[in-house]
Formats: sequence, structure tokens, C-alpha cells
Amino acid sequence: EDEKRLQLIQAHDLAAKLFHYLLLETEHGKEPYRYLLDRGVSKEVIETFQIGFSPPSWDFLKKFLIKRGYSEELLEEAGLLIRNENGSFDRFRNRIMFPIFDAKGRVIAFGGRVMDDSLPKYLNSPETIIFNKSKTIYNLHLAAKEIRKKRQAILFEGYIDTISTWKAGIHNGIATLGTALTEQHANILRRYADEIIISYDSDTAGQQATYKAIELLQPLGFQLKIVQMPQGFDPDDYIRTYGPNSFKEDILTTTITPTAFKLNFIRKEYQLNEESGRLKYIAKALEVIADLPRAIEREHYLRGLADEFKLSIDSLKNDLNQFIYEKR
Ligand code: CTP
Ligand code: MN
Ligand code: MN
Ligand code: MN
Ligand code: MN
Repeated sequence: EDEKRLQLIQAHDLAAKLFHYLLLETEHGKEPYRYLLDRGVSKEVIETFQIGFSPPSWDFLKKFLIKRGYSEELLEEAGLLIRNENGSFDRFRNRIMFPIFDAKGRVIAFGGRVMDDSLPKYLNSPETIIFNKSKTIYNLHLAAKEIRKKRQAILFEGYIDTISTWKAGIHNGIATLGTALTEQHANILRRYADEIIISYDSDTAGQQATYKAIELLQPLGFQLKIVQMPQGFDPDDYIRTYGPNSFKEDILTTTITPTAFKLNFIRKEYQLNEESGRLKYIAKALEVIADLPRAIEREHYLRGLADEFKLSIDSLKNDLNQFIYEKR
């Protein structure tokens, strides 16, 4: 079993080296290299993240690894080959390859991106004996040092945001990969950080994922800050449009609290220009505020509601206490 794991890891290491070499040193790599440079991914960053390219062939990697003594069965188990009725073939073809490292910096899986609009945009390795998605945190091997030092991590949606912010000098950025944040991810992060800045995409999917991440992380005792970006942007888009300094100076310093995020999030579900909609929103907002453990915090958000809807803070408090009473 341990022997097997080691072989799988070695096969991934060789595959990563091959893909990286193909990207930087061969004709195959010209178009993907151009694609990366156009996206602002520099040579230096390609080296740091060991980015590569899988050629448009059904058996390039297969031949390469079989020549080096790996069996077809092992490579299937590694998720590098896919089997069908006619035999086995390379899983990753014609994709920009992002190696996924474990905490020790060993390659245990890949994510591969197409260079056009075809689907799936990213293809990831399947779960194997060396790759458990719910426990793997992208870039933890590079970011751990800075996360420990600051006791703070910045959580992104995926590869490119982590890479693009790394290039901008943000070295405590991490991501989960093609899967929602799990309690296992969170427990690992708990060892390194007390504070997490959630920096997901500003689209609907990203905002929904933010809501879920808050619900997961808050009970574990993390302090949370939530990034806000213009509609439709992710951190990489933002940096490419407004520059790295603006991301650091305008975005990371103007985060909001989880409660403010939740209030903004739920208010979109109500018609605030209608009286009945306003009342429903206020009732829902009080439920969110009732969850806050400290009286000062509750007072702070109540005051916001009172000001916005021209209500007395006393009547809001009465209703709030009703919720708190019902809950306990
Ligand atoms: N993802 C995935 N499989 C997909 C789509 C997304 O695993 N089919 C994961 C990837 O880790 C990706 C992350 O979810 O990085 C966020 O997805 P998305 O926002 O769609 O992609 P970006 O990271 O913004 O990638 P790009 O900028 O290259 O479009
Ligand atoms: Mn290199
Ligand atoms: Mn997204
Ligand atoms: Mn995105
Ligand atoms: Mn993006």
C-alpha cells in the first residue's frame, strides 16, 4: 500500500516534469505559453507553480511513463489514464496543466485547463489513494509559511486567482479545487490561521459559496473578512483590469464582516421599494443579527437597520429579543 502510494506519487512527479518541459522547451508549448503570457502568467510564475502542457495526443504521457516501467493498471489507478473498451488513453490532452501539490510539495494530482471556450473548462484528477479532494488545499505547500506568520489565509476559488495574487505579492493565498470548502479543509487551516479572508468570485455562484463558507468556518472559531469586488469580477480579472496595487490597497483593505455580507446577500431576495418587502427583510435581518454572540455587535447592526428604515432602535430590540428568546 505505501509502496503503491509512492509509485503513484513518482508517476505524477514525472508527468509534471514532462508537461512542464513540453510547455517551456518544445514546439508543442508555443501556443499554451503564449496563452499564459497573454493572461499575465509570467515565466517566473510558470516556474513557481510548475505549470505545464499536455499535448493533443491520446497516448503521449502513456508511452512516456510505460517506457519508464509503470504499468497501465497503475497509471489508470493514478487517474492519469482512462480506460474504455478499446484500451486506455491519456486523461489530459491539449490542456494547460496545473500540478496539485500536497502539503509536503509532492505532486498528487492535476487540474487541466482548455485554451478556448470548450467544456469542461477545467478537468481535474479523480480521487485516488493519494488525492482526496476534501482534504487537499491548493498552494498550501507554498503559502503555509506566510499563513503561519500572519495567522491569516486568503481563500480563493481556484488556480488562477491563487497564482495571479501570488504574482502580486500575496503569499498567503490558497484555494479548494473544483469542490466546496469542507470541514476537513477548515480543520487543516485551523492549525495555521486564526483569520480567513474569503475572496471568492463576485458572481452568483461565488457569493453563494461565500455564504456557505461563512456558515462552515464561523462555528470553528475563525475570524472572517469578506472581500467585495465589482460585479462579475474575480481576483484575477480585477488585477488584470485595475492592477495588483489596487487589489491590495482598495479591495483587501475594504473587506466587510460576515454579518454585513449576509445582510447584503439576503436583501437581494426582497422588494425593498415595497412596504411588505421591507418588513419581511427587516424580520429576516433580525434573525441574522440574533445569531451574534455579543450585545455590542447586535447593537451595531440594529443601528444600521434603524437608520436605514427610520425605525426606533427600541422597537427593533424588542423584536430581536423575541428571536433570541425563541432560539434558546
Ligand atoms: N473548477 C473546476 N472544474 C470546472 C470549473 C471550475 O474544478 N469545470 C474549479 C477550478 O479550480 C477553478 C475554480 O473552480 O479554478 C473556479 O472556477 P472559475 O471561476 O470558473 O474559473 P477561474 O478560476 O476564474 O478560471 P479562469 O480565469 O481560467 O476562467
Ligand atoms: Mn522549470
Ligand atoms: Mn467562479
Ligand atoms: Mn473565477
Ligand atoms: Mn478567472
